[in-house]
Formats: sequence, structure tokens, C-alpha cells
Amino acid sequence: MDFDNVQDIHSDKDSENIKRLAVDVKGGSYDIHIGAGLLHTPEDYIPYKLEGRTVFVLSDRNVSGLYGDMVTASIEAQGATVYQLLVDGGEKSKSFSDFERLSNEMLAKKVTRDSVLIALGGGVVGDLGGFLASTIVRGISYIQMPTTLLAHVDSSVGGKTAINTQYGKNLVGTFYQPDSVIIDVDVLSTLPPREYMAGVAEVLKYGLIVDLEFFEYLETHASDIAKQDPYICEQMIYQSCAAKAAIVSMDEKETSGQRILLNLGHTFGHALELIAGYNGDVLHGEAVAVGMLMALDVSCKLGNVSEGDVARVRELYANIGLPQTLDDLGLAFSDVETMVARIYELMLGDKKATRHGIKFVILSKIGQAVVNADLEEEFIKDTLRYFIQQ
Ligand SMILES: NC(=O)c1ccc[n+]([C@@H]2O[C@H](COP(=O)([O-])OP(=O)(O)OC[C@H]3O[C@@H](n4cnc5c(N)ncnc54)[C@H](O)[C@@H]3O)[C@@H](O)[C@H]2O)c1
Repeated sequence: MDFDNVQDIHSDKDSENIKRLAVDVKGGSYDIHIGAGLLHTPEDYIPYKLEGRTVFVLSDRNVSGLYGDMVTASIEAQGATVYQLLVDGGEKSKSFSDFERLSNEMLAKKVTRDSVLIALGGGVVGDLGGFLASTIVRGISYIQMPTTLLAHVDSSVGGKTAINTQYGKNLVGTFYQPDSVIIDVDVLSTLPPREYMAGVAEVLKYGLIVDLEFFEYLETHASDIAKQDPYICEQMIYQSCAAKAAIVSMDEKETSGQRILLNLGHTFGHALELIAGYNGDVLHGEAVAVGMLMALDVSCKLGNVSEGDVARVRELYANIGLPQTLDDLGLAFSDVETMVARIYELMLGDKKATRHGIKFVILSKIGQAVVNADLEEEFIKDTLRYFIQQ
């Protein structure tokens, strides 16, 4: 993996350059564009002409109110016919019912194979839009225009699309690569602080799983991260996208052991999200933040990382302001054993589980992750107990 950019991270502070990263996969190679103001002229970053095509711009109602008209006007000016598709903000929109309604809306507007879908929004819109694009008339082109930090650094890159089910998160979906990812860093100025922090958790993940130097960079800049300094944000986005692009380019469909590492903390996190009920009380990134600490606890009990390492990661969490406990997530459980059993049961339903059990992503050290599929049930339950009683 090429993470040499970490050393350059300070060097281009004054440059106005738009950064570009390539994702090189069999399912379709594409560029990630990162810079300020990109949504004013999105057509500059779309690798084909839109003239004469039908373009569907999918957004949630919050994002549409902020950026929908701007993007729609630019695309219309290219000679395309544009239809806006809307969902409510939040995780609940990644549903079968929204998928069905939107499919019907597109069919009513005579979607054809050369139509284009633009997913303008956070990870919810990105995942749902990608799934729609991959299935409607057996697949149309789509563009990611992510508007949350989490979507900038994670969900818009790599082509995983999904909706949620009553059995768990992201259990119905496809691998379907976008044609371009257009990251306008200016949109972070309207993002609610909690949503920003949820994205920071996914940024930190890259430092933990593949890049000690990046982890150290985040430690050095913790107070700027907490203040949402625009320059530091852009560096975090670039470095995270570089890491994700490298991983996805090696392992597009999570078959050769690298991409699964991106799931650090997610098996725990998805179970916590399911328990919280997808109603906005616990955000995906918040659940992942605590889930990563659970994975770190497991790594420590195995002797992979020291208690000093755990304290170091927790200190970074504290300096940035990330949630560390179930209490921080607003989850309180009185009956410990029932809850341990319930969370474990939900984890067994996660996509990372196989007939042999759950594949856990843990750390072999800070900056390096591995998969362990041999962890005893009681071993994991002890970690759950520890966090529930904390
Ligand atoms: N496909 C992947 O590889 C991948 C990776 C990580 C996460 N995900 C998925 O991403 C989803 C979470 O995404 P998210 O955290 O972006 O949540 P989200 O899409 O729900 O957005 C969070 C909230 O912020 C609002 N918002 C978005 N952009 C805004 C802006 N610029 N200004 C003001 N408000 C704005 C939205 O309306 C929403 O209410 C989860 O469903 C998760 O499973 C997918």
C-alpha cells in the first residue's frame, strides 16, 4: 500500500489544488476529487457528457434544502433532464420501502440504461443510491457527491451499496462502483457537530488498521480536529481516501483479506446500532467508535496491544471528543447478562459471521489490523460485560 502521502501532509497548505486519487478496480476504475467548492461545477468531475441524458439526483430532505438546487441547476445547464428523488434524513431511509418507492419513481420517469443517478448526501443516500443504481433496469451509471465527513472518508469510496433489514444492517446490497466521487470539503460547514464527530471515528480507523504515522498525525492535531479546522479536515479526508482507495484497489469484493480490515469495530458497532433502533439516538460512526474500543479490548486481552496502547488510544478519543462508553452513547442496560446475550446474538447475524463463527477484526499493534475467526464466545462476551458494566 502506498501511504507515502502521510509525510507530505503538511506541505501543500497554501496550494489551491484540487486533489485527485484513483481507485483501480475490475468493477470500474474512477477518480476521487477532493477540494473546496467542487459542487458549484460538478460537471467538471464527471467523466462523460450529460447532455441529453436523464439524471436523477437523490438526496435526503436536509441535504436537498442546502445543496440540491445548486447541483440540479449545474446539471441542467449541461443539457440533461433532471429529476430530484427525496428521502427523509437518517438511517431509516435505507429501507426496502424507500427502495421500492424510489424505483417506481424512476420507472415512472422512464429511466433508461443511459440514465445517471447522483447520490448527493451522507452515507445513507450513498448506500441507497448505489443500490438503486445497481438494480434499476439492471444497472445505470452513478456518481457519489458525499456531504458528510463519514461519507467523504468512507462510504462514498469502494462501491459497497446496501439497505438495512429487520435482521441487521446492510444485509441486502451489491458491490457497484461509482463513475466519480466528488468531495466538496465546503459542505462540512453546515454539518451538525455530532455528525462530524461520527466521521472522525472512521478517520481514526485508518490510523488504527493500516497507518501508524497517520495515527500519530491525528494525535498531534487532536485539538484542531476537535475544532473542525478546515485545513486539517482536508488532510484527514485526503489521507483516509488514499488508504481506502489502496485497500479497495487490492480487494474490491472483500475476498482477499485486506478490505475486511476496514470493519474494525463494526461487528460490535452494528449490533449496538440495531439495539439503539436506527432512530438517530446512536449514529453509525458513534457506534463504530465504541466498537473499535471493544475490538481494542479484545486485542489487549490477546496480548497483541498493551494496556499502554489502550490508554493511548483512549487519550486520543478524549482529546478529540469521541464517545468511549455505552453510557456516552446513551445506552444503559440493567440486566447485564440478557444484554450480553442479545448483543452477541446480533453479532452472529452480522455479515462478517460465517458458518464457523464471527470473523473479528482486531489489532496486532497500533497501525496494523488482522482477522481472528477463532475467538471463543465467552472471550467476546467478557468484553461486552466489561463495557456494559463500565
Ligand atoms: N458503503 C460503505 O462502504 C459504507 C461505509 C461506512 C458507512 N456506511 C453507511 O453510511 C451510513 C452513515 O452515513 P452518514 O454518517 O453520512 O449518515 P447520514 O447519511 O444519515 O447523514 C447524517 C445526517 O447529516 C445530514 N447531512 C448530510 N450532509 C449534511 C451537510 N453537509 N450539512 C448538513 N446536514 C447534512 C443528513 O441529512 C443526515 O441527517 C450508514 O448507513 C452506514 O452503514 C457505508
